[in-house]
Amino acid sequence: MLVRTIAMVLLTLIIIVGLSVVIIWLAVRPKRLVYTMEEASIHGFNLAKNNHLNATFNFVIRAYNPNTKVSIYYDKVEAYVFYYGETVAFTTVNPFFQPRRNVTHLRLNLVARDSVLEGAAARDLMLEKSSGEVELDVRVKAKIRFKVGVWKSGHRTLRIVCSPTLVHFSSSKRFERTFCDVDL
Ligand SMILES: *[C@@H]1O[C@H](CO)[C@@H](O)[C@H](O)[C@H]1NC(C)=O
Ligand SMILES: *[C@@H]1O[C@H](CO)[C@@H](O)[C@H](O)[C@H]1NC(C)=O
Repeated sequence: MLVRTIAMVLLTLIIIVGLSVVIIWLAVRPKRLVYTMEEASIHGFNLAKNNHLNATFNFVIRAYNPNTKVSIYYDKVEAYVFYYGETVAFTTVNPFFQPRRNVTHLRLNLVARDSVLEGAAARDLMLEKSSGEVELDVRVKAKIRFKVGVWKSGHRTLRIVCSPTLVHFSSSKRFERTFCDVDL
């Protein structure tokens, strides 16, 4: 008798919790965040014989939050340029808040100063440079929180991968927008 009552109570609780989750989900209807690389350029490129690289990379990433109920705190944002799996430049972005249905452009300025490349990577980078364009791997890692009404979530790690990002050395060639992968 007691066992049956406990089982009934538990079952009722499970159903209530399950229904609440479904109702909240339907009310909030979370949508995927969308990131695209809009602009990419390189300035002051110099790859020395000892495989040391100097360069300034400029990127504009468009961050689109399509949600009508969810806004986002970007609490800690780091951006990296990788070439052949090696970090050649790194920067941080000031924390910001992204409202609902908002587009924010992240303007990244990353400086490689005497970044050391491996021999093979340096040779290939030189070849790509002489072809006029280079394929880079641009990544953003952010600690974010969601806000729905007055409720705020805990921290989650957002990873944005824009790869390959094809950068032209000549400024006369226009960069073509590319979609970035999102891992949350
Ligand atoms: C990079 O810049 C620094 C400071 O301007 C300079 O000392 C260094 O020689 C440069 N390295 C290359 C590879 O151009
Ligand atoms: C997005 O949010 C930022 C920060 O609140 C604001 O400055 C910007 O104007 C917003 N953009 C749009 C398209 O609403």
